[in-house]
Amino acid sequence: MKMKKMKKLIILLTITFLCVPGFISAEEGKKLAQKNGCFACHSIKLRVLGPSFKEISAKYRISEATKRNLMGKIKNGGSGNWGDIPMISHPKITEKDLGLMVEWILNLDR
Ligand code: HEC
Repeated sequence: MKMKKMKKLIILLTITFLCVPGFISAEEGKKLAQKNGCFACHSIKLRVLGPSFKEISAKYRISEATKRNLMGKIKNGGSGNWGDIPMISHPKITEKDLGLMVEWILNLDR
C-alpha cells in the first residue's frame, strides 16, 4: 500500500475510534430511559405528560451543576418547572444510570 493511502486510512480509523464511545454512551442513555419507563410521560420531540426531552435540552446549559440538578430531579421527583404536573420519584435508579440518561437528554438539542 502507498504511504498516502496508508495515512488516509490511519486518519479515518482514528476518527472512527474517537466517535464510537460518544455514540455508545448516547445510545445507552436512550436504552436506560426506555428500560426505566421514562417514555410513559416523555417523548423526544413531543410534549406528553412531561416536557419533551428536546425541550429540556434546549432549556438548560450543559454543566456539572445542571447535570447534578436534573439527576436529583429524576431521582427525587420534581414539579413546578414546566407546569402543574409533578414527576414521580425514581429512587432505585443508580447514579451512573441517572448520569447517562441526563447526558443523553442534554445533548439532544446540540
Ligand atoms: C409519571 C410521569 C413521568 C415519568 C415516568 C417520568 N417523568 Fe420526567 N417529568 C415528568 C413531568 C410532569 C415533568 C415536569 C416537572 C416540572 O414541572 O418540574 C418532568 C420533568 C423531567 C425533567 C426536567 C426536570 C426539570 O427540573 O427541568 C427531566 C430531566 C426528566 N423529567 C427526566 C425523566 C427521566 C430520565 C425519566 C425516567 C427515569 C422520567 N423523567 C420519568 C413526568 C414524568
